[in-house]
Amino acid sequence: MAEAPIKAFVCGHPIKHSRSPLIHGYWLEKYELDGSYEAIDVAPEDFAHFLHTLHEQGYAGGNVTLPHKESAFKIVEKLDGAAEKIGAVNTIWLENGHLCGSNTDAYGFAANLDQQMAGWDSARTAVLLGAGGAARAVIHALQERGFDEIRIVNRTEARARDLQARFGGTTSAHSWEALDDLLASTDLLVNTTSLGMAGSAPLSISLDPLPDHAIVSDIVYVPLQTPLLADAQERGLRTVEGLGMLLHQAVAAFERWFGVKPEVTGELRQRIIDDLRSGK
Ligand code: ATR
Repeated sequence: MAEAPIKAFVCGHPIKHSRSPLIHGYWLEKYELDGSYEAIDVAPEDFAHFLHTLHEQGYAGGNVTLPHKESAFKIVEKLDGAAEKIGAVNTIWLENGHLCGSNTDAYGFAANLDQQMAGWDSARTAVLLGAGGAARAVIHALQERGFDEIRIVNRTEARARDLQARFGGTTSAHSWEALDDLLASTDLLVNTTSLGMAGSAPLSISLDPLPDHAIVSDIVYVPLQTPLLADAQERGLRTVEGLGMLLHQAVAAFERWFGVKPEVTGELRQRIIDDLRSGK
C-alpha cells in the first residue's frame, strides 16, 4: 500500500500574509515529495483544541506563528533545548502520539549569517536592539556561537533586564541612551525591533561610533533594504538582510516533517522577493 502524503501547516491569526506556504511549497515541488503544506487561520480560543487534534486531522506537524508561539510553548509535551531557552515554539510535530516543539528561529538567524557572511561568528561582542520574542531567538543563537558579550539595548530598559535575567552570564541590559558608547566596541549590530519595517517608524541611530570591521544585520525584511542597512552600507560596513532568517528557519522545520534537508537557493529567495513586491 502506498504511504499517505505527509501533511504539514502553518497556523496563525491572521495568516493570509504568511510566506511559509510559498517556501515549503517550493521545496515540496523541487524535491518531488508527496506532501502538502497549508496555511490555517486559528483563533486564539481554538488553538489548544487545534493542537490536541493534529493526529485526527492527519497532520505530521506544522509551524506556529503569531500570536500562538508562546501558547504552543505551554501546550506541547516535549520541548527541545532551543524552544526551552527561547520560551516560544514555532515548529511542532508528533512523536509516538506526543506533541513536540522546537524553535528554529535561532537556527535560522545563524544559518543566514553563515550563508551570507561566512566567518561572522568570529565576532565577540554584539549589540542587539529590542527585547521581544525575536530578540530571545537571536540571543540564543549568539550564545550558542560563543559570543563573549551580548548587550541588549531596548527602549523599555526593564524588558532588556528581564532578558538579561533569563539568559544570564554573557548578556547585559542597557537603555537606548547608552547606544553610542556601546557601539564603539561592537563587532556585530542586530536590529530585532520592528523599526524600519514598512509602515513603522524608521530606526534612526548614528552608526558613526561603530568600528570599520563591524557587521550590521536586520531581521526586518520588508523592505529588504531597511534604512538601517542602507545607512550601514553608506558608511562602508558589511550588512546582512533579514529575509534569509525567514528562509533558513524553514529549513529545519521542513527537514523535521518531510525528512529532506532543503537548500535555500537564489531561485527561492527571488520567488519570495517577487511575492513580497507584489504587495499581497
Ligand atoms: P517581537 O516578539 O516580534 O520581537 P515585540 O515583543 O512587540 O515583538 O517587540 C518589539 C520590539 O520593538 C521591542 O523591543 C520594542 O521596544 P519596547 O520593549 O520598548 O516596546 C521595540 N520597538 C517597537 N517600537 C519601537 C519604537 N518606536 N522605538 C523603539 N523601540 C521600539
